[in-house]
Amino acid sequence: METRRPEEKTKFPTRKPRDNQDMGLRIPILFLCLSAWAAVARGEDPYLFFTWNITYGTVSPLGVPQQAILINGQFPGPNINSTSNNNIVVNVFNHLDEPFLITWNGVQQRKNSWQDGVLGTNCPIPPGKNYTYHFQVKDQIGSYFYYPSTAMHRAAGGFGGLRINSRLLIPVPYADPEDDYTVMIGDWYTKSHTQLKSFLDSGRALGRPDGVLINGKSNKSRGKDEPLFTMKPGKTYKYRICNVGLKNSLNFRIQDHPMKLVEMEGSHTVQNNYESLDVHVGQCFGVLVTADKKPKDYLMVASTRFTKTVLTTTAVVSYTNGKGQASPEIPKAPVGWAWSLNQFRSFRWNLTASAARPNPQGSYHYGHINITRTIKLVNSASKVNDKLRYAINGVSHEEPKTPLKLAEYYNVVDKVFKYNAIQDDPPATVGDKVTVEPNVANITFRTFVEIILENHENSIQSWHLDGYSFFAVAIEPGRWTPDKRKNYNLLDAVSRHTVPVFPKSWAAIMLTFDNAGIWNLRSELLERRYLGQQMYLSVLSPERSLRDEYNIPDNALLCGIVKDMPKPPPYSI
Ligand SMILES: *[C@@H]1O[C@H](CO)[C@@H](O)[C@H](O)[C@H]1NC(C)=O
Ligand SMILES: *[C@@H]1O[C@H](CO)[C@@H](O)[C@H](O)[C@H]1NC(C)=O
Ligand SMILES: *[C@@H]1O[C@H](CO)[C@@H](O)[C@H](O)[C@H]1NC(C)=O
Ligand SMILES: *[C@@H]1O[C@H](CO)[C@@H](O)[C@H](O)[C@H]1NC(C)=O
Ligand SMILES: *[C@@H]1O[C@H](CO)[C@@H](O)[C@H](O)[C@H]1NC(C)=O
Ligand SMILES: *[C@@H]1O[C@H](CO)[C@@H](O)[C@H](O)[C@H]1NC(C)=O
Ligand SMILES: *[C@@H]1O[C@H](CO)[C@@H](O)[C@H](O)[C@H]1NC(C)=O
Repeated sequence: METRRPEEKTKFPTRKPRDNQDMGLRIPILFLCLSAWAAVARGEDPYLFFTWNITYGTVSPLGVPQQAILINGQFPGPNINSTSNNNIVVNVFNHLDEPFLITWNGVQQRKNSWQDGVLGTNCPIPPGKNYTYHFQVKDQIGSYFYYPSTAMHRAAGGFGGLRINSRLLIPVPYADPEDDYTVMIGDWYTKSHTQLKSFLDSGRALGRPDGVLINGKSNKSRGKDEPLFTMKPGKTYKYRICNVGLKNSLNFRIQDHPMKLVEMEGSHTVQNNYESLDVHVGQCFGVLVTADKKPKDYLMVASTRFTKTVLTTTAVVSYTNGKGQASPEIPKAPVGWAWSLNQFRSFRWNLTASAARPNPQGSYHYGHINITRTIKLVNSASKVNDKLRYAINGVSHEEPKTPLKLAEYYNVVDKVFKYNAIQDDPPATVGDKVTVEPNVANITFRTFVEIILENHENSIQSWHLDGYSFFAVAIEPGRWTPDKRKNYNLLDAVSRHTVPVFPKSWAAIMLTFDNAGIWNLRSELLERRYLGQQMYLSVLSPERSLRDEYNIPDNALLCGIVKDMPKPPPYSI
């Protein structure tokens, strides 16, 4: 077996940003240049520094003013444009009146779950305080996004694009596009995040969203002919499309312009053309679009899938030499989820394209590795004490006051949570009875595990795992049985971080747990996650060695029972 990620010496992090509270947008670029220069001088990977002020502000994306969460005054937040191996330093100042964290959806944080920005790994940043995230985007390329992981904050914004470009020397399987556009699509509520949270806290469901946004606006708030993107005739553009919404899968399409899929969630794909793509919550696609049609305006469309009432929004894409408005006729969206399943099956890994390192993606023969453990996870919805809860294998996760990661590091797990509240192979009646408690499974470091995600419900599910990418080898209707393994794609399934599971269906994913840390496995549907449909996978490095995992960062915020405890001895080499 060849490994995809030979260990590389990591010098991280050795330097700190200058103590400067108000680096504006221009100053980080200056820093970037200086630090890139310094890094070359020292043979070190470049640093990108950001200072982010998180504040409330007012936006009217659906024509109604409402409270939003802004980053440096922006909604959506700024894009992070990085290259593999860059060190990213983001100093986040929480000016909200509630504790806050940002998670980097799909960024693997190798050896570094300390920076994952979820409540199981980090104490939230208290109001009026700041925390500096410090991480390296290692062994990854592709399109990602970040978002607030606390409370219902994502419903108010605080999200933005994060791209990881391939290093210059590593070939990318398509020509450099003329430009590179980030497209954040998502369903949207006009109610504030606090109102939505109080619905859920009082036991009610969220109900239907009020609309769909593209980059923070809808066709109600964007001028009719105001272009969102402009293309030069004959040129090819890359669009990175992510669904940052709360619950709805969205169909994305551009009038008259097929999209050539080149990347999804960090993998180069076989380059098929699509008229439209179903983008499930938490997913990102990278597509190429060529401006080779009549020079005029065209509509980019995002509309909800699998809903009785279809919510649609549009934005204008124009040609630089364009004359004429877009046709008001909106291209039809597909109907039913079988279409979406077929589309999933058409996605293939390009085995010969280089990965983040020069070796081809397909040199990692995941189909030849023996499975050491199979974990079946069944999602359910039910009432506990008259309130709606969502669960995995009958356990609805509740966050302890002390983050799980800190409990492990400080050796106080006994006082905070119990491992393995759920079974690997739940009975058929699972979900009939639900308990509310921390949901943490332990997994042996470096084992190859198969996870079956079984959806017995009538609605679509979207699962995401932090810290890893996994091979999504099958999605099928019905229930999983071991003999379904013969239908797995063991050759060129796409390595990715999010997978949809259609109603009354299952999905199988496979991965090697070679990234020590504690990692969030969650429903990306915010309502479900907030009400407990998430868990953590604890991958302990038995050695407490720096080869496997970084030490707790010096600036780590402390809370819960470890707040005033002496720091344990650091990991050793
Ligand atoms: C962040 O807020 C501080 C005041 O709290 C201000 O001085 C600074 O300019 C702001 N920085 C940015 C990047 O907006
Ligand atoms: C992103 O970074 C790459 C590599 O440094 C650079 O070539 C590109 O122009 C940047 N794109 C944007 C939009 O800043
Ligand atoms: C808060 O920001 C200051 C710089 O303004 C920095 O020195 C400090 O380390 C930050 N705090 C944390 C916990 O990262
Ligand atoms: C896969 O990548 C290779 C190598 O970069 C490229 O030449 C080829 O066109 C790609 N194949 C497909 C089917 O996209
Ligand atoms: C926005 O788009 C929807 C869907 O096409 C359409 O029904 C609606 O009339 C549009 N609204 C405005 C203000 O353009
Ligand atoms: C996988 O298991 C089979 C049968 O148990 C065994 O023959 C084979 O050597 C194993 N392969 C690897 C790569 O460990
Ligand atoms: C997982 O936890 C169980 C129960 O606490 C324990 O017996 C087992 O050794 C642990 N396994 C690993 C891989 O840590």
